[in-house]
Amino acid sequence: MNQPAVLVIFGASGDLARRKLVPALFRLFLKGRLPSGVQVLGVSRTRFSDQQWAGHLREHLPGELSPEEQAAWDRFAQILHYQPGDLTRQEDFHRLGERLEQLQQGRPAQRVFYLATAPHYFGQAIQGLISAGLNRAEPGPPPRVVVEKPFGRDLESARALNEQLHRGFDESQVFRIDHYLGKETVQNILVLRFANAIFEPVWNRSFVEHVEITAAERDDVGTRGATYDATGVLRDMFQNHLFQLLCFTTMEAPNRFEADAIRNEKVKVLDAVRPLDRQAVLQDTLRAQYRGYRQAPGVDPNSRTATFAAVRLWIDNWRWQGVPFFLRSGKAMNCRTTQIVVQFRQPPLQLFRQCGGVHQGNRLVIQIQPAEGIQLHIQTKVPDAGMELTLTDLSFRFDRHFQGRMPDAYERLLLDVLAGDPSLFARSDEVEQAWRIVDPILRIWEQEDEPPLAFYEPGQWGPEESSRWIARLGHRWMDVCPVLE
Ligand code: BG6
Repeated sequence: MNQPAVLVIFGASGDLARRKLVPALFRLFLKGRLPSGVQVLGVSRTRFSDQQWAGHLREHLPGELSPEEQAAWDRFAQILHYQPGDLTRQEDFHRLGERLEQLQQGRPAQRVFYLATAPHYFGQAIQGLISAGLNRAEPGPPPRVVVEKPFGRDLESARALNEQLHRGFDESQVFRIDHYLGKETVQNILVLRFANAIFEPVWNRSFVEHVEITAAERDDVGTRGATYDATGVLRDMFQNHLFQLLCFTTMEAPNRFEADAIRNEKVKVLDAVRPLDRQAVLQDTLRAQYRGYRQAPGVDPNSRTATFAAVRLWIDNWRWQGVPFFLRSGKAMNCRTTQIVVQFRQPPLQLFRQCGGVHQGNRLVIQIQPAEGIQLHIQTKVPDAGMELTLTDLSFRFDRHFQGRMPDAYERLLLDVLAGDPSLFARSDEVEQAWRIVDPILRIWEQEDEPPLAFYEPGQWGPEESSRWIARLGHRWMDVCPVLE
């Protein structure tokens, strides 16, 4: 793909552009992976010149640059342009159109509009683009629009946003970001399952006892108090990231490795997730807040917002009927780890029981981060101890096999947007299905304030209730952090 392209970043003076998008573009540039002919046009209200915006980005670039990298930055800065613009003023969209024409110098180019603004501006930005005719490009291929998360705050608002988009953009022009899909280890779940023949035969209700998906963060809300307090952990982590992990772990093999074939399978899984009625919300969900959260800047001192949640889900299809899926995520926990634990059943016959050997089921741990890899737990004989058994492991770590640092998720996603590959982006029906699952939980949590909000000290595996809750449901969390050392 080397046709000219202009990537327009709305929210250009913001955190996401500065911390993620531009550094990812620069790393691609350093690796020679950024297609030639790409220009970047930042738009936000701050009255920067092209040079001032580039200087501002350079100042915030993480880490030190070597002299070669600095020289590369100077070349990279030449593709950075800036246009002051207010999303509430229609004339600014017309000005943007003029600037795009000027940058393209009469040549057709792939236009990509990236909405990296605060979410309450998404609607206005989409409306502005459509009214200015920037949803069409003559001459040139149909422009693309990238929408950051969160995509809505419930099913109704997500539907409204989808409708608004579809008034001017075809679904094939829309790229809804979930940065988890850009992570190498998340994509590797599909490779593990569908490029190896040994897992698929046991990847079902006959062999799997339960599945645990954990995204634990050590960081607290930091300076994001105000936004987070209006969001909470279910919207922030479950509806998007954890559900993507759930989909990749449980979906059927697509017929082809193509965007719509993959997304069809994901939608089918989400569609099979049993909706939680009131009773299920009380029994199968747990919510908690870390102590000290209410004192964070921007947080309501009486806030009832959950910073930790655990949810049990069931997937009503042939493959997964009767297998519980435990999902949990929290801030201010005792370590940073994102992992999927597939717990297999015990062997049908306890052959070594009389000799004192206990057969625990096998476990496959997919470690998404921070130590990316996979670990298989298997029973082994303890040497020189009769027939005593112990769980040992076979471990694979990406960094031991592959040189170089893992790319940031945004590098892959930006390349895919430029190439027009939507495989790693959420489709409208997928987002709506995810909200369908989350909405009933939020309704009871927020309107009835049930189940009771628990509390936990920062640095724990969530509240103490978490172990009791899962024990009541007949299981135990695998609280190892991180699994791969
Ligand atoms: C973001 C959430 O989408 O994902 C943050 O808004 C969270 O609250 C982050 O910290 C986690 O991402 P990662 O890649 O660090 O697991």
